[in-house]
Amino acid sequence: MDRTLTPAAVESRLTTRWLGRPLQVEAQVDSTNSRLHELARRGAAAGLVLVADSQTSGRGRQQRQWHSPPGTNLYFSVLLRPDWPVGATPPLSLAAGVALAEAMGPLLPAPPVLKWPNDLLFQGRKLAGILVEAQTDRQAVRHAIVGIGVNVNQDSFPEELAERAGSLRTVSGQTHDRAEVLARLLGALESWIERLQTRPAEVLETWQRYAPWLGRPIVVTMGQNTLAGTALGLAPDGTLRMRDAGGREQTILSGDVEQAAY
Ligand code: BTN
Repeated sequence: MDRTLTPAAVESRLTTRWLGRPLQVEAQVDSTNSRLHELARRGAAAGLVLVADSQTSGRGRQQRQWHSPPGTNLYFSVLLRPDWPVGATPPLSLAAGVALAEAMGPLLPAPPVLKWPNDLLFQGRKLAGILVEAQTDRQAVRHAIVGIGVNVNQDSFPEELAERAGSLRTVSGQTHDRAEVLARLLGALESWIERLQTRPAEVLETWQRYAPWLGRPIVVTMGQNTLAGTALGLAPDGTLRMRDAGGREQTILSGDVEQAAY
């Protein structure tokens, strides 16, 4: 494993109060999200962060795979135990998106773009993705896991990703210390997760500032269906508001935004 990604290297740079305390680093897991669900079910405390140097079955949104080679990127998951009623879960993935944008912005030649619901792009290339999963019972969210994959130093991608993916290194021309990047990300995540509980409107406002495609034409793909229209903005629950070609306002709960000018 790359010597830069050790608990000691991350902890020596960590400024958080509770996030990443403790922090566990593994050489290889199937998926940090799956592994953290197991640890949560066995009673692990909120704040635990599980990082892996590589994943054999990294998972993305919509049952996609997350390409997770060793020695080059960040794959990590964060355990939260929020006391949120089911159906009123604030948009955790948006808070994570803002945290990524703020933490990675200074490492990039210009501000990144957030694509709804949870991709971080730079000049149209995806640098990072977020997968939030919650375990609920009838009344409440038992635990929530925020899984994040960041392309840090990868300099070439498999053919199917080559047109759409990038890394901090491909866009900045510099190699980055993964422990340093992770510590920055965890600091920003802690701060935005806390703000989501106290000032959720600020999360939405800040997220929208990283979305220059709002107000422009988009096409949203939802399974077999597509909807063309104009992106209007985020609703308080984090869903996407758009105006369709017939002038009606639509709310998108889940889907992929395509053909936006990033
Ligand atoms: C997406 O953009 O589709 C979300 C990608 C999320 C990938 C991360 S890598 C760490 C964590 N563990 C997983 O299996 N997935 C997330």
